[in-house]
Amino acid sequence: MNGIICALRRKADPGKQITSNIRYVRRELDISFRDRYPFNDDFVTKNTIPRSIKKTSNSRVLIEASLIRKSLDHKEILKGGYNMRANKPKTKILIDGGDPDETLRIKKLIGFVDGQTTNPSLIAKNPEVQQLLAAGHRLTTEEQKDEYKRIVQKISPLVGDAGVSIEVFADLDTTAERMLAQGQEMFSWIPNAYIKYPCTHEGLRAAHVSVERGIRVNMTLCFSQDQAAAVYAATSGAKEPVYVSPFIGRLDDRGDNGMDVVRNILKMYQAGDHHVHVLAASIRHLDHLLCSFALSAELATVPGKVLESWAQGNRLPDDSFVYRAIDSKGQALKPIEYKELDLNAPWESFDLRHELTRKGIQKFVADYESTLSKSA
Ligand code: E4P
Repeated sequence: MNGIICALRRKADPGKQITSNIRYVRRELDISFRDRYPFNDDFVTKNTIPRSIKKTSNSRVLIEASLIRKSLDHKEILKGGYNMRANKPKTKILIDGGDPDETLRIKKLIGFVDGQTTNPSLIAKNPEVQQLLAAGHRLTTEEQKDEYKRIVQKISPLVGDAGVSIEVFADLDTTAERMLAQGQEMFSWIPNAYIKYPCTHEGLRAAHVSVERGIRVNMTLCFSQDQAAAVYAATSGAKEPVYVSPFIGRLDDRGDNGMDVVRNILKMYQAGDHHVHVLAASIRHLDHLLCSFALSAELATVPGKVLESWAQGNRLPDDSFVYRAIDSKGQALKPIEYKELDLNAPWESFDLRHELTRKGIQKFVADYESTLSKSA
């Protein structure tokens, strides 16, 4: 740290615009801590240059003074106890992916990662799994499980308190008991696991027992408010937050406004005890993410590419933010109306059927099986 301050004393030019000095501070910080912690302009602006001081002041003195005053403690940075991202959103950000190297890269880029979600399609795309497949190797079910375990064990220490979601294998006939047995085992792989079950009758049965046993759950493939109401009812009494993942992009893909499902679920849950947290999923572009922030979804799981574009603009939506409910061709998406549902009704009473849940299960099965040998 002293080295940086000395360098600043020597080089920072009092006559220059403060913005160029901000860039200078950032570069110096990046050079010193490059491998350990990423700094961005916002961090430098908000943490090294006090807001109260006018831009016309002597920038060299300001930078030195504020660096010394803040006394950026190297050890504190390494412990992760310093909030580098001054404009970190309230919505927790999870990476939607299956590659630990990507998690590390994005963490360096944006300064933090609260958690991660994985699924069978993402695990099949993992670079090492892909390498095995390219070399002509197909996995046995045991090897597939070992690969999945190895991947989440690498990701686990990289993320914050939103944990790592691991998805059980489930086809349309998998019973709750079989899902539960897998969930129980997967939960032991890492200390911060969330087990993903589909929003089906059997998935909800598995979730109901899981929360009783203290297994954290993330209910995936959610496409309707009814499914989310059933998640709430089936997991009531859970001691730890339960996640429900409404899939925005896949609803958009068929012309429905996926963001409405997130909005409607959040509205419905206002009447509840807040034990279920909404995890906006199947995010395709920046506006999905910004709208999830604007709606105050508790969590959002985001592909690396979208986080890269978010990091460039580094934006949070303000009061003037308006979500444009259009598809990739600019066509208006069909609104999904809010329904009055009673969260205290038995979970079996809600209509769990949704075509996209069914299709989603089939797609996950296909991607999972694409990595397996025929005899597995
Ligand atoms: C996350 O938990 C989901 O599996 C993921 O967001 C699905 O995204 P996709 O619709 O892009 O496959």
